[in-house]
Amino acid sequence: MSKLWGGRFTKETNKLVEEQTASIHFDKKLADEDIEGSIAHVHMLAATGIISEGEGEKIENGLKAVHEKIKKGELTYSVANEDIHMNIEKFLIDEIGPLGGKLHTGRSRNDQVATDMHLYLKKHTETIISLVKDVQQAVINQATDHVDTILPGYTHLQRAQPVSFAHHLLAYFWMLQRDKERLIDSLKRVNGSPLGAGALAGTTFPLDRQQVANELGFDYVYPNSMDAVSDRDFILEFMSAASILMMHISRLSEELVIWSSQEFQFIELDDSFCTGSSIMPQKKNPDVPELLRAKTGRVYGNLMGLLTVLKGLPLAYNKDMQEDKEGMFDTVETLEGSLGMLAPMIDTMVVKAGNMKKAVSEDYSNATDIADYLVKKGMPFRQAHEVIGKIVLYGIDHNKYLLDLTLEEYHQFSELFEKDIYEVLAPEQVVRSRRSYGGTSQDEVRNQLDLARQALQ
Ligand code: ARG
Repeated sequence: MSKLWGGRFTKETNKLVEEQTASIHFDKKLADEDIEGSIAHVHMLAATGIISEGEGEKIENGLKAVHEKIKKGELTYSVANEDIHMNIEKFLIDEIGPLGGKLHTGRSRNDQVATDMHLYLKKHTETIISLVKDVQQAVINQATDHVDTILPGYTHLQRAQPVSFAHHLLAYFWMLQRDKERLIDSLKRVNGSPLGAGALAGTTFPLDRQQVANELGFDYVYPNSMDAVSDRDFILEFMSAASILMMHISRLSEELVIWSSQEFQFIELDDSFCTGSSIMPQKKNPDVPELLRAKTGRVYGNLMGLLTVLKGLPLAYNKDMQEDKEGMFDTVETLEGSLGMLAPMIDTMVVKAGNMKKAVSEDYSNATDIADYLVKKGMPFRQAHEVIGKIVLYGIDHNKYLLDLTLEEYHQFSELFEKDIYEVLAPEQVVRSRRSYGGTSQDEVRNQLDLARQALQ
């Protein structure tokens, strides 16, 4: 088959080279964006008189016809035409004849592919932002129901201090809020138009780059043609924000796995988000959070891959840059799939408040509160810490929790203890007294929920 660039060549391309250098296998995902960009380009070519209005219309109609046929699966991509850009140009020429060859006037695949990627990422970043909001909403829904549900809070995965379950969940709301802000911010850089940069140096045709940018919904035109065709920062930024977001998803997933274990039994995931074992009939496995945890790896990998592809590349376009696509598609698809499962999984999980309550009643996570009690009665904190450490040790030795010790037992350690110690120690009270801003008291958590709801507006 004759190549669109075949003029300078006297030999056919080696078949393996043709196969290996082609990108059509994956960049066919850019068909919509490629045609959208081409239509904007052709509008501008006609408006500036570079081609006639009549030619512009025929090319536009041809592109639309090709688009319909692609959507219906009526056209077959060919490896000989390398990539989505040249495949579509060939389809156009087949559709409307040699006039189709005017489409590429004043354009290069270098500014074309960059434009396609910007358009693609703009659309998908917006989708991902909206999926993040769905997860935030699911977190708010559960948190609303569980302000008064108390479970152990952990440090080092050792019981530390009891917290409201809503407080624990809302921590993830704020992580997701920052993720969303990073994605929104990255859109500023996605929103630049490379089209009209040509191969690298601009073009001899009197293009109107601003018109094209306006039509495609970009906020600005890249001021430097060499930067326009070789910039992939916008993809790296997306992948970085995606990596941090996946890290948060992975941490939450890990907690869901732990909480749904037999040892914890704090939550039960809905059957529709779990699978069974082919051999052990009793199993209900938390496959979804496990996979979300694992998929974080490929998102990090894609970021590392592209950073490595780009390092050391001289200006401007290099074929290396064709390797930017699969990682970007994979990151987008992984995020969309992961977030899509996460929101309903959180919404449908059953919270076992009774088991959480039982857990906080069978531990020493109220120890800090007795220390604070002695401090309020005048003992220096460091000394109180020492005293309570001894009481905990006594409790462990005698198989008693802090609420089980008698006042006489408390008096063996300090005369400052009075009957009111038992009020301080109940888990609800322990939570209620952490009233500092951003703390876990039920009142503070309710304020926090209001803030979260406002942030989601
Ligand atoms: N398929 C190519 C890519 O994705 C399009 C740009 C090709 N440009 C070129 N000068 N060979 O990078």
